[in-house]
Amino acid sequence: MEPMYEESIRDEFTHQTDSFARAPVMNAAETLGALVELAPADAGARWLEVACGPAAVSQALAGRVGSVHGVDLTPAMVEKAAAEAEREGIANVEFSLGDATALEFEDASFDGALTRFSLHHIPAPKRVLEEMARVVRPGGWVIVGDHVTDADGDAAAWHEEIERLRDPSHWACLTPDRLRAMGEEVGLHLDLEELIPFDLDFGEWLGRGSGGPAAAALIDRLLTEAPETADSFRVVGEGEERRLALHNSLTRWRRS
Ligand SMILES: C[S@@+](CC[C@H](N)C(=O)[O-])C[C@H]1O[C@@H](n2cnc3c(N)ncnc32)[C@H](O)[C@@H]1O
Repeated sequence: MEPMYEESIRDEFTHQTDSFARAPVMNAAETLGALVELAPADAGARWLEVACGPAAVSQALAGRVGSVHGVDLTPAMVEKAAAEAEREGIANVEFSLGDATALEFEDASFDGALTRFSLHHIPAPKRVLEEMARVVRPGGWVIVGDHVTDADGDAAAWHEEIERLRDPSHWACLTPDRLRAMGEEVGLHLDLEELIPFDLDFGEWLGRGSGGPAAAALIDRLLTEAPETADSFRVVGEGEERRLALHNSLTRWRRS
């Protein structure tokens, strides 16, 4: 029997396959361009995208490197990724089903591995970093982009309540400190770290999550109770104009 969280991920991201691929924030400079630019341009390099979803990252990365292999746990996402790449005429990408915590690749078989917006869905995120480090060659790159939470416990707990109401497959956002520490714990060497503010349409975000529409009233109420220390998750503006302001943490490590 598969772990419960895997079922929850597949249910959520089968539900979100099309809406996620359409969401404007997934192609924004702060979330896509800034991440992909961290991969050194090298027409001979072989890269892995972990938890690729519909693979906007793989598509963008494919223009900078030799080839990209994307893996994801959700079959509908893998099918979507392959269909989108074919539609765009991108030939140097391929996709397969796979679990980020147990990658089916040989040690040192890629020049680099990256993942975006995935660690907050995975109960054992350090295991993912460990696997990414394992499949990258010595001297190769591991790059993570994810939105993060506050170090203050009250602010982080309030943030997670809202995230889980809106998307039951949400596990926990990391703090930048925890993410940095996990890289060190798996033996990676920190090379670069950035925290980039970005924002997105709150209504689109709420409606995309499978729990969002039913929990909208409760989430509205929670939003009125934001701890003063809340900084990494804020809703600004009114009514239809509301925007969700988040912090995107970008981290690049090297394998020694
Ligand atoms: C928020 S989406 C991000 C998709 C893509 N990385 C992007 O940024 O466009 C999260 C993705 O992580 C995948 N996922 C979650 N847990 C996973 C795991 N253990 N192994 C592989 N993929 C996983 C989901 O199926 C989903 O496609």
